[in-house]
Amino acid sequence: SLLARGFDVVWSSGDASFVVADSMSEERLRTTGLMATPVSTPSALRGARAGVPSAPTVYRSFDDPVRGVRAHLDSIARANVRVHVDSIGASVEGRPILAVKIGDRDHAGSRPDVLIMATYHAREWAATEMALRLIRYLARTVPDARVDSLVSARDIWIIPVVNPDGYQYTFTGDRLWRKNRRPLADDQFGPVIGVDLNRNHSAHWGLDNTGSSPLPRSETYRGPAPASEPETQVIERFHGEHPPVVSISYHSFTGLILYPPGYQYGLLPQEISTYRALAGTDVRPATLDRLPGSNRTYNRPGPSWFLYTTNGEYNDWAYQQFGTLSFTPELTSGFEGASYYGFEFPDDEGKLDIMFQDNLPFALDVIESARDPLRHRSQATGLLPERILVESLAPRIRVVVPRADAPAARVDAPGPVPVVMQVTDGGLLSRRLVSANEIVTRPTRMSVRAGPITAEYALLAATGAEGDTAAWVARAFHRDIGGIAGTHEWRGESGGALRSPPIIVPSDVDTVSVLFWTRYNGDGFSLARRGELRVSTDAGATWRIAGIVAGSAPAYYPERVVLDGVAGVTLLLEFQPRALTWRLDEIVVLAHGAAGAGTSPVAALSVSENPIRGDRVRFGWPFGAESGELAIYDWAGRRVWHRAVAAGGGSVDAWDVSSAGVGNGVYLAVARAGNRVARRKLFVARRGGGQ
Ligand code: ARG
Ligand code: ZN
Repeated sequence: SLLARGFDVVWSSGDASFVVADSMSEERLRTTGLMATPVSTPSALRGARAGVPSAPTVYRSFDDPVRGVRAHLDSIARANVRVHVDSIGASVEGRPILAVKIGDRDHAGSRPDVLIMATYHAREWAATEMALRLIRYLARTVPDARVDSLVSARDIWIIPVVNPDGYQYTFTGDRLWRKNRRPLADDQFGPVIGVDLNRNHSAHWGLDNTGSSPLPRSETYRGPAPASEPETQVIERFHGEHPPVVSISYHSFTGLILYPPGYQYGLLPQEISTYRALAGTDVRPATLDRLPGSNRTYNRPGPSWFLYTTNGEYNDWAYQQFGTLSFTPELTSGFEGASYYGFEFPDDEGKLDIMFQDNLPFALDVIESARDPLRHRSQATGLLPERILVESLAPRIRVVVPRADAPAARVDAPGPVPVVMQVTDGGLLSRRLVSANEIVTRPTRMSVRAGPITAEYALLAATGAEGDTAAWVARAFHRDIGGIAGTHEWRGESGGALRSPPIIVPSDVDTVSVLFWTRYNGDGFSLARRGELRVSTDAGATWRIAGIVAGSAPAYYPERVVLDGVAGVTLLLEFQPRALTWRLDEIVVLAHGAAGAGTSPVAALSVSENPIRGDRVRFGWPFGAESGELAIYDWAGRRVWHRAVAAGGGSVDAWDVSSAGVGNGVYLAVARAGNRVARRKLFVARRGGGQ
């Protein structure tokens, strides 16, 4: 509601918002009745937003004839044959919008275009520093094999200041100016200036009034029409002439790597596989944040609605119009001494260099990927886009396949499943196929054929919070009416946990994905409000974090955590909400690969009685002469008993059910020999044995 009323909201959590206010909006804020506390930022400590405290020594204004961005770029170009500077158009006040070309001056059709921009928003000086440093790095005269090949085989364009009028004004008039400097009609309070250039692009423009504002005084004023502003027109025209395969638009602050879509909650891009490989995941992030005062240690990747929704924004436009893989890094934020720097990152060479070094690997990776993004393994994340990616098994099957293979792709589960190709933005490299109908019963096996590749999947475990919950152990996690399928969802509160039964990964399956539909009420700024997916491979003795959700996700969407190197292990999964309410539905654990194929049929684990009413149970060893181990787990996944089985097996020593701690209930017996696994569900139903 603050956004809708035109406040300059940087972030919001459940009970607090961070708002940039001048004296007028501070007055207005008081009339809302909300409590506002000033944050100690450099400009607030100075007691004024006007001007800058003293001439910065590292940051560069636009106009300064000696140190300004324009003069600086000219001097780099004069000294370096690899660097060419051109004006590609003019701002409202007639400043040039400068594009730096690195490499050959001319554009070659054979080379993919890469575009890197900064400072749509005037006050985000660190973004321009990032771009200038990247120019200097790529223009280096000391040979470097990676840089040389990037520069010679791609057309790299860098626009360090998209909004030169606003940027210059932050050095002379108002350090926290955001928009461009378009004069608008006066209102009752006086002159009104500026359109938010990152709300002025032609895609989804004006879709709603929270993602952008129709009010000229608002900091997210979208302008009178799509691409009404000369700066926006220059950028859009440039894309028409040099459609980039990949692009980056640097902003500050928060510590994120955002990618489309950002205009509506819950949507995922068709190129999800490529976006994730480049931007990474919480467990394998593309960029670190090593600044001592920062409030995080890595930049959090994700679809940009997790921060908040926007419309008329750049990434969404480039992705819709040109299929450009387009990213918005929100650079670091944090503290220096008692002051919160936020937009006012310190004028400090050492700190700016750390920020640059932290973000450089991602920039190089994105540039490198332009040749063939679907086949590019990111050096920063180690991830390669998955050629076939399953997002959901139910309520509908959703898979993403390479675009060229999409029309002839087929899904069998196990019979042919009719699918529809999704029509949304992007889709140049990948296409999402969605089952035409809702899935009534979750398939236990599925195969996806796309071009030369057939991927097989087997269902290892699932819960939809319906009649399939017996094996899952819930603590401060409840079944609630709602969700994406059936009538119920899981809802967990802070401190709660939802634990899976032991999940035995077949020995010929290396990779497992955990798919779940989810929604939660975190915020894009704070990582303290998050949900963790934890995994144990040692029966709950130790756990590691395999996936994190954080941000603002008020609409259900499918999440996905991939676990590698899990052949033959017994997994326990646990969902743990922290400082948020976590809703989950259709949790599905899928084995990748033809699970079971090529190995002998799963051996039967025989047992002396089941249900178990007596004191002792004997097992028949299923693996003949092979030695191995037999273990029994309770449904919380704790191993309650185990025995090594020597070669020659035969009948295994009995499990003493009467021993302390074995209550009535469901248990799982697992026999293991080398790569082979056999399991059996046991029901202990002893008279008077219920604990
Ligand atoms: N913080 C930037 C802005 O407000 C980037 C927005 C990215 N998109 C989004 N949907 N959050 O323009
Ligand atoms: Zn910004």
